[in-house]
Amino acid sequence: METMKQTRASPSPSPEADLGTIVKLMTAYRGARVLTSAVELGVFQTLSRKSLRAGEVAQKLNAKTRPTAILMNALTALGFLRKKGEFYANAAVAQNHLIQQAKGSLVSNLRYQELLAHAWADLPEVVKRGYPRRALNGLLSRDPRFVRDYIKGMADIAERPARELAAQLDLSSVHRILDVGGGPGTYCRALLEREPHLRAVLLDLAPTLKLTSKLWAGSPMRDRARFKAANYHAASFGREKFDLILFSHITHDEGEDENRALTAKAFAALRPGGQLVIHDFMLEPDHAGPLFPALFAVHMLVYTRKGRVYSAGEYESWLREAGFRGPRRLDICPASANASKAIVAVKP
Ligand SMILES: C[S@@+](CC[C@H](N)C(=O)[O-])C[C@H]1O[C@@H](n2cnc3c(N)ncnc32)[C@H](O)[C@@H]1O
Repeated sequence: METMKQTRASPSPSPEADLGTIVKLMTAYRGARVLTSAVELGVFQTLSRKSLRAGEVAQKLNAKTRPTAILMNALTALGFLRKKGEFYANAAVAQNHLIQQAKGSLVSNLRYQELLAHAWADLPEVVKRGYPRRALNGLLSRDPRFVRDYIKGMADIAERPARELAAQLDLSSVHRILDVGGGPGTYCRALLEREPHLRAVLLDLAPTLKLTSKLWAGSPMRDRARFKAANYHAASFGREKFDLILFSHITHDEGEDENRALTAKAFAALRPGGQLVIHDFMLEPDHAGPLFPALFAVHMLVYTRKGRVYSAGEYESWLREAGFRGPRRLDICPASANASKAIVAVKP
């Protein structure tokens, strides 16, 4: 039975251990919902650098005292709040990650998870029907609140892997970059920061780029990047224009045929010697592990029409098919809970 470990577990040592695994998993969503609901309500924001009673927090949140106290007691049990007598305060983990102004804030990402709770609740129906009721393309074009939390939520978690990916790439003969579906532009910015001679085009949908512009306002990198509003399925990427094209976390939103088409389009748009870098979570060849990408594949199932998580071998076969040579694999933040990989291939 698969446990919460990243690797596949050996058979359970006892029936009690089996029961423990099931109970832990079946109740895990309670803690998750308590956390995302508290962020959504603004509990941690309200308690930032203060100690307050449940009734005072409830009043500030325009909520009722009894449910606020029940929620805050659960948050205390989970370790996000500290309680002394009748007073509650943020624990360090909450002050560092669960308020908007914190440098390591995960608030937007947690809001995005909360917005998708309805999609996860629909999982049995999605498995029967084959696709979600509301898919990503509709959410991106029609729901500004979703776009805000989705794009800012990606920025919340991308700094470290972006720096690590940029550090591992050979940028010595790269001048022009195309970042396809660049979103908040964290990966693009990390590349620009590494080499002062680089220039980039960040291609994404117009509603996303509105937000990206806000996130980049005042950045010294802004003059070196052009934001191009386009649909990556329909737009041409041009012919032999770029030295490096980046697909970061876009292929998991798409089906195999769409990814093959994007790979072929990237091949045409690269100069000879140019590199296509595909960065994403990746599964083992049988698609049944590690645990994080296997669950991320379900996340894609519940809110994209054709998305899933692919194996490095699948990417490599599309790359060879398109004419690329020598795909090589890079491990990005391999020790982290959400480790990713990059495949780098060269146009001959
Ligand atoms: C999961 S995000 C990845 C963002 C960024 N590359 C990163 O790794 O942080 C996917 C991005 O693709 C964009 N996107 C989705 N469908 C698109 C389309 N048809 N054309 C252009 N961009 C699209 C979304 O707006 C979003 O910014």
